[in-house]
Amino acid sequence: MRNAKEILALVNEALAAIPFTRKPEGLYRPVQYELSLGGKRIRPVMMLMAYELYRDDPQSIMPTALGLETYHNYTLLHDDVMDKADMRRGKPTVHKIWDENTAILSGDSMLVMAYQMMGRADDRHLRAVMDLFTETALEIGEGQQYDMEFETRNDVTEEQYIEMIRLKTSVLLACAMKLGALQADAPESDAAHLYRFGQNIGLAFQLQDDLLDVYGDPKTFGKNIGGDILEGKKTFMLINALRLADSRQRAELERWLEKSDAPAAEKIAAVTALYDQIGVRQLAEQRINEYFDAAFADLEAVALPAERKEPLKDFALSLLGRQV
Ligand code: IPE
Ligand code: IPE
Ligand code: MG
Ligand code: MG
Ligand code: MG
Repeated sequence: MRNAKEILALVNEALAAIPFTRKPEGLYRPVQYELSLGGKRIRPVMMLMAYELYRDDPQSIMPTALGLETYHNYTLLHDDVMDKADMRRGKPTVHKIWDENTAILSGDSMLVMAYQMMGRADDRHLRAVMDLFTETALEIGEGQQYDMEFETRNDVTEEQYIEMIRLKTSVLLACAMKLGALQADAPESDAAHLYRFGQNIGLAFQLQDDLLDVYGDPKTFGKNIGGDILEGKKTFMLINALRLADSRQRAELERWLEKSDAPAAEKIAAVTALYDQIGVRQLAEQRINEYFDAAFADLEAVALPAERKEPLKDFALSLLGRQV
């Protein structure tokens, strides 16, 4: 059984071998650019690792793994337009190098390519693969819509935030796990536990992404810091800062949030200082650990010997930057 690093090498090799022969170049070059920027490739890796719990020929489901990664990259292309993000994986975003129209159309074609790759699942699993992928893709659109609608609201609850990130992020990790399991003909109960494992990892992962958007190092994070603050994203941290602030802190926080003409760096620094004072970072870290532990309980419930699940456990730990 391969570990995550070995699986990642397989994924990267297969991604690099995708032929880009169609024209016009103006449509496909941005697709190739996005896919070649690197990225952690966690969705295809998770899919193949779930598959490898039961079978040892991961190459046989590689087209669907690449489909999932292509789909993810399509969401990033559009997400960066929606979030006005200039940097991804340490490089300028597609709409910066080209323009927004390019990001829209190349993104659309990437979505179609993703469906094409998913359609290469073997005949026996095709229907189940397409049904799960399609349902997941619809949920992600719903999550992205809530994410945007929340930007202009100040009454978003923590529960609504969790449901929003479950939809926009977690279900894709959950889907990755289940697609691996069902293409390996895993028992249905295992597939369900693996889905929940992916979902809980996904919740922890998006909470961490929100945390890193404030406290991360742009060199390793690959994105500009403070984007969520500038866009008025209702993150776990902002929601809890508003909830836990004393009246002076709340007034100050609200004043900064309303200020759309303040210099970006000043606004980010002021809101971050308030997060520090209110102590929301620790709260987020605690919540990340809770989802993480829940994910491990799900993995535990998978009816396989513990050592068989070890590589997946190690992978999850490395994903969240924790030591084994
Ligand atoms: C970015 O996903 C979008 C989120 C769900 C936070 P990743 O952090 O997996 O992005 P890449 O593919 O590794 O760049
Ligand atoms: C990612 O949310 C969700 C999707 C792309 C579907 P973010 O907007 O937080 O992701 P990043 O931070 O831009 O990668
Ligand atoms: Mg977004
Ligand atoms: Mg974004
Ligand atoms: Mg983010």
